[in-house]
Amino acid sequence: MLDLRAYLAEGAKAVEAALDALLPAADREPRRLHQAMRYSVFGGGKRLRPTLCLAACELVGGDRESVLPVAAALEMVHTYSLIHDDLPCMDDDALRRGRPTCHVAFGEATAMLAGDALLTQAFAALGEWAAQGTGPAAVAVRVIGEIARGAGSFGMVGGQALDLAAEGQERSLLELEAIHRLKTGALFGAALRAGAIAGGAGGTELAAIERYAAEFGLAFQIRDDILDVVGDQARLGKPVRSDLRKQKATYPAVVGLERARILAGEAADRATAALDVFSPGRAEPLRALARLAVSREN
Ligand code: IPE
Ligand code: IPE
Ligand code: MG
Ligand code: MG
Ligand code: MG
Repeated sequence: MLDLRAYLAEGAKAVEAALDALLPAADREPRRLHQAMRYSVFGGGKRLRPTLCLAACELVGGDRESVLPVAAALEMVHTYSLIHDDLPCMDDDALRRGRPTCHVAFGEATAMLAGDALLTQAFAALGEWAAQGTGPAAVAVRVIGEIARGAGSFGMVGGQALDLAAEGQERSLLELEAIHRLKTGALFGAALRAGAIAGGAGGTELAAIERYAAEFGLAFQIRDDILDVVGDQARLGKPVRSDLRKQKATYPAVVGLERARILAGEAADRATAALDVFSPGRAEPLRALARLAVSREN
């Protein structure tokens, strides 16, 4: 039996060491900017995207260690997305990862720039990883392209745009699903694909991991919507009822809590079923993570 808690802790530790090495020191100028970047990156966080990247790499027989910079870059992109998501012009939230949000602690302008710099630093780190790698250059270029695509206007940022446009508006379940697949699913998808590609996945393996990723991201964001209603702020480390305040299009708002729970469970089941092409032992971490996506309390 996999000890998921230990598995997550081990992944987080390795990723945090890589992040520490890749981020500018807090005493380097411009200090306030570098402090804000580190404040948000090291303020907690489950580190799920980097953990999924490492898990996908390992699942296809790749070497975890060699993709640590990729995993760290994914967490930088994710943290940037959180900093910007919390800004007054977006979700206007004051708490993140159990602490005041970046703009509350450092001011809006610095928070915006810290996000910009994290996104840019992620690609600098990826560039360095590609340049130092011993594998084929085409593989590294593909990995970088996946992350850029997942983060951009056809991925996470596009989803964020649709999320903002939906505030106070009616959305069908199908439209809502599309928003969630983009704003949250796309970066999870990039993390899993990047890990799989860097690990040398074959076509069948990559297709299975893609199916898993699409359903994992949806399940994860439905649970996030549910936690906004039923979660505990202290445990979540971010405000509850934020979606209600902003009249966001969410699963509980569109289909109700009970149906939202069912749909999240079904998406997680589809994610797990996609792993049937792998031997059960090897796929256990991803299976356990899919269950966690819909049972988590934070
Ligand atoms: C929060 O992501 C933003 C969403 C996509 C719902 P996480 O729940 O992974 O946040 P951290 O990284 O653990 O803080
Ligand atoms: C955010 O969705 C998705 C991102 C791309 C950051 P939410 O706005 O629901 O995330 P939280 O609840 O603030 O973490
Ligand atoms: Mg948001
Ligand atoms: Mg938000
Ligand atoms: Mg949310």
